[in-house]
Amino acid sequence: MRSLRTGLSLASLLGLLGTLLLTAPAAHAADTPLRDLGTAKGKVIGTAVTGSKLTGSYGDIAGAQFSSLTPGNAMKWGSVEPTRGSFNWAEADQIVDFAEAHGQQVRGHTLVWHSQNPSWLTNGSWTSAQLGTLLDDHIATEVGRYKGRIAAWDVVNEPFNEDGTYRSTLWYNGLGSGYIARALTAARAADPAAKLYINDYNVEGVNAKSTALYNLVKSLKEQGVPIDGVGLQAHLILGQVPSTLQQNIQRFADLGVDVAITELDIRMALPADTAKLAQQKADYKAVTAACVAVSRCANLTVWGFTDSDSWVDSTFPGYGAATPYDANYAPKPAYYGIAEALGGTTTPPPTGACTATYSVPSQWNTGFTGNVTISCSGASLSSWKVTWTYGAGQQITQAWNATCTQSGAAVSCVNASYNGTVPDGGSVSFGFNANWSGSNPVPTVTLG
Ligand code: XIL
Repeated sequence: MRSLRTGLSLASLLGLLGTLLLTAPAAHAADTPLRDLGTAKGKVIGTAVTGSKLTGSYGDIAGAQFSSLTPGNAMKWGSVEPTRGSFNWAEADQIVDFAEAHGQQVRGHTLVWHSQNPSWLTNGSWTSAQLGTLLDDHIATEVGRYKGRIAAWDVVNEPFNEDGTYRSTLWYNGLGSGYIARALTAARAADPAAKLYINDYNVEGVNAKSTALYNLVKSLKEQGVPIDGVGLQAHLILGQVPSTLQQNIQRFADLGVDVAITELDIRMALPADTAKLAQQKADYKAVTAACVAVSRCANLTVWGFTDSDSWVDSTFPGYGAATPYDANYAPKPAYYGIAEALGGTTTPPPTGACTATYSVPSQWNTGFTGNVTISCSGASLSSWKVTWTYGAGQQITQAWNATCTQSGAAVSCVNASYNGTVPDGGSVSFGFNANWSGSNPVPTVTLG
């Protein structure tokens, strides 16, 4: 009896603490993973990742949904050789190991860039010969380390200005445009099996910059320089998928190189709302469809799969929500846009993120006061109904700000005439009194 009483008071305490139970957005575990949809279309579907996060839900989704990983930062020069001659491969190794354990490819990113270089390199003063040797040695070391384990390397990153002239960088200024052929040649020597790419942004549509890239690839091929593909980063803005995307992919394919969408994200002005998320779905679908339409478009990679692991928010103030999963790892409409373009027949996209939370603000020996709060984010409601089943004989006696009916254990509460509307970013609460005896477990509530 004494131990039973102890159990009861623990249950009461839990109730009083206001245990949260959510109607979480459905996990849609039955949906075919993107990587399998991609395989059926001959496409590799990838994501950029952060090595330290590859556990829990983040690791589960990264491993289950994608067939390619790109280290977001771990393979950049500044990450792997922060001090000259002293290397740190820990995160890069971790990502490559994870990929192999999950049957995934790795896109190596990136060998020659103007950004995220170690300060010893950028602050040094080098002769052209020294710079060339640094470049050769870096590529031999890094590509050599992962020889046979990297499907494709972004060998050269962001070589062009918007007008199609060469970007003034450490490499271009020291070695001239020949640094590009030199880097590709060194990468081929270090790992003959890896596909070698040049990667840039704002080259998704047909424009001056993508035409400069086109002309470069054409001339490299004519000279017999090893070049296997072009990467279109695709850091896009909501509603601005270039209309010439597919045409542009096709012209590179016709040149005899593969194309990859390497860093797809589609940012919106915050806060997100239902209409923007729907537009984002259409945009993701359009980009994916353009890749599906061209057989040489080999890989479509998102630059982070969750809004909690995106570079956008800190890089473009006021913008965010750019990836296919929200910050709580729930798939957004954008996820279904990708899936649908890959031929997936998905369960209906979630109507948005409205959730109901049940709590017990107070409880006494025979009764308690309950509260349910309905909150919307990225969605809204014009009416609502919340249902649950009481597991221990609880009986509602009175409700306010909702009409509640109870039949046996089944409770159903609908909005009052004045509080059916829950705006995007808003919430509505209702309360009730009820009787309990024995125990008062918190039920699972359903918003429907
Ligand atoms: C970004 C990373 O995502 C950030 O974490 C980092 O702070 C800056 O670089 N183009 C590229 C990527 O090729 O390497 C960049 O990644 C995003 C733009």
